[in-house]
Amino acid sequence: MELQALALQAGAVLREAGELIRSIPHPAVTSKEGHANFVTEADVASQTFLLERLGPLFPQARFFAEEQEEHQLAPGWNWIVDPIDGTTNFIRRYRPSAISAGLVKDGEGMLGLVYDPWANELFSAVRGQGAFCNGNPIHAAEIPLENALFVFGTAPYHRDLAEASFAVAKEVFLRCGDLRRCGSAALDLCYIAAGRCDGFFEAVLSPWDYAGASVILQEAGAHIGTVPGRTFTYQEPQPILAGTDALFRLLQEAAGKHLA
Ligand code: IPD
Ligand code: CA
Ligand code: CA
Repeated sequence: MELQALALQAGAVLREAGELIRSIPHPAVTSKEGHANFVTEADVASQTFLLERLGPLFPQARFFAEEQEEHQLAPGWNWIVDPIDGTTNFIRRYRPSAISAGLVKDGEGMLGLVYDPWANELFSAVRGQGAFCNGNPIHAAEIPLENALFVFGTAPYHRDLAEASFAVAKEVFLRCGDLRRCGSAALDLCYIAAGRCDGFFEAVLSPWDYAGASVILQEAGAHIGTVPGRTFTYQEPQPILAGTDALFRLLQEAAGKHLA
């Protein structure tokens, strides 16, 4: 199937997954490895639904999804799926949470979809064909650094990195307009794409947190990468920096100093 047609059909599947998680307002919760890291019956239901419904749309792709037992990026095409990004928000009904799917071919992001069922916003992009929110084109903003909005992810499951990661956040905060922490990295990155904020940093993210949004962000004219000296990959967890030109450069500088 042609990727643009796939984006439309897969987008409809993510919207249905959004309805599904909204229909489970008080899910059973279990703990996972790492500080305050939870999985709910809604994460599992959403993942099962996405695997069943995305699979037949593009049979050549394998799945690399957060709540699977094995995390292995296969050669060729892979769907990289986060069935709920922002599970802690979802559990506490602190709204921002989303369903994310990225389609990657041999390490290159080809298609990205992120759906926020609370705002009814579907962010989408196919490589080389622009970025959209609910079908309307979106672009990163051009805001002077001193007024820029910077979004920080606290890497909540990696307390050992708190000192270094808050040092990066402090340095960037002091040079720009203000700082936000929303609780869904996928939405943070899509908000840069939509021009609602300008930069993002988190000391550790997993590929399912950023795979879908990475394509959307790049198609909207912003940058995504990791700390200088490391290679950006969809294979394993890594620090993630993203933003418009000036803020991305500042993040590289600050992360290079505190995290490299
Ligand atoms: C988390 C969210 C959060 C970020 C964490 C992620 P999850 O995803 O994106 O904003 O700070 O690092 O793990 O666990 O809710 O899928
Ligand atoms: Ca996530
Ligand atoms: Ca998740």
